[in-house]
Amino acid sequence: MVTASLHLDTLSREFLNNPYPTLAKFRAENPVFWDSEFKTGCNNGMGVWQIFRYADIKSLLSDRRISSEIPATQLELYPIEAQKMIAGLFSVTQKVMLFSDPPKHTRLRSLVGKAFNPHIVEHLRPRIQEITDEILDNLEGATKIDFVQDFAQLLPVNVIADLIGFPRKDYPQIKNWVTCEVAFLAGADVSLELTYHSRTEYLNYVDEQINHRRQHLGKDLLSALITVQEEGDSLSDGELQGMTWLLILAGYETTFNLLGNALLVLLQHPEQLQLLRENPDLVETAVEEILRYDTAVQYLRRVAKEDFEFQGNLIKAGQDIGLWLGSANREPEVFPNPDRFDITRQPNPHIGFGYGIHLCLGAPLARLEMQIALKTILQRLPEFYLSPEGYEWGSNPGMRGLKSLPLVLS
Ligand code: HEM
Repeated sequence: MVTASLHLDTLSREFLNNPYPTLAKFRAENPVFWDSEFKTGCNNGMGVWQIFRYADIKSLLSDRRISSEIPATQLELYPIEAQKMIAGLFSVTQKVMLFSDPPKHTRLRSLVGKAFNPHIVEHLRPRIQEITDEILDNLEGATKIDFVQDFAQLLPVNVIADLIGFPRKDYPQIKNWVTCEVAFLAGADVSLELTYHSRTEYLNYVDEQINHRRQHLGKDLLSALITVQEEGDSLSDGELQGMTWLLILAGYETTFNLLGNALLVLLQHPEQLQLLRENPDLVETAVEEILRYDTAVQYLRRVAKEDFEFQGNLIKAGQDIGLWLGSANREPEVFPNPDRFDITRQPNPHIGFGYGIHLCLGAPLARLEMQIALKTILQRLPEFYLSPEGYEWGSNPGMRGLKSLPLVLS
């Protein structure tokens, strides 16, 4: 039954600080409902079907009646003066696999998969270790750090930009562009003008880098993507631009947020932190539990391609569907004691990396980064505590992460 007046207020400080009690309430009482007030950067307040249960989310993520594309009709939801900007913002999303359906998605994913394969990722292991050590070397002697700024933000941007082959001096600027993009896409409170400006600068930069790399092919991922294209397996110029844009976007913000969430959750569960210190081999299951317990990508957006009935509701063609991964990962029917953080939890079929055809392409890289980072931090920082001034959660409900995490080191 449709309950018209229900609304999930994701921008309240209470929700941003801890969404799980609210998600649990909706999951139990209103697991599927139409939220007419909900707004994302794409739909400008058109409303959304909110979905909270694990089984429902998995079933919709494998349902060909829903799409990852951002329909051009959503442009019309913006005032005339904003439409040019929105069209500019949408132009790149139309070329990337994250916002594509089969057969376009299948072709793009297979091309990128050839260039960005597990072999390339495994090769990165020593480089990730080196970057982690370098960051920690720079913190040597410090008695107080902000873990978010001084570690979490640095590792993934260095890894992903190194992998792609962007110059190191550009990393701070890349970080700013990506943060703005992600905030807009996830419906956080960020201005259209700022996002448009940031996207234009970022795409110009990506084009410059591609042009430069064409003249000086190397061993980086960008060269591999260009070569895949030149072997006739056809990534068009626009697709190459979109793919580069996507990889940085998807590889940076997600991992840095998860790193911050990881440290905080370990500090909030000292017995689990101690267990991991004493048994570093538990790092693999620990990372999976962090991806379940407090994942970075909380929310996925889809659009209905046709009218269909779902759990007694009529979902109409063109309507947005919001899938709350953070809620699915606390589903009591799948995870015994779902609110308990347990680094030994097995099995752990969380969907922190999504599910179905769009399952995270960077999951092996993200896992490796998380495992190396946590292991090295625990080896090299014997004692660390939450600083009394406290931490602060960010303001993006779709991408959960900390704005600051001050730590005292001793
Ligand atoms: C902890 C870190 C990460 C998390 C939590 C995460 C999560 C996700 C999720 C939930 C999706 C599915 C999106 C959807 O269905 O709409 C996704 C897709 C994707 N991720 Fe990740 N991701 C992470 C790290 C990375 C990294 C490091 C990279 C790349 C370097 C990456 C690249 C991608 C790409 C390219 C896609 C699109 C796949 C497709 O459309 O087929 N991700 N990620």
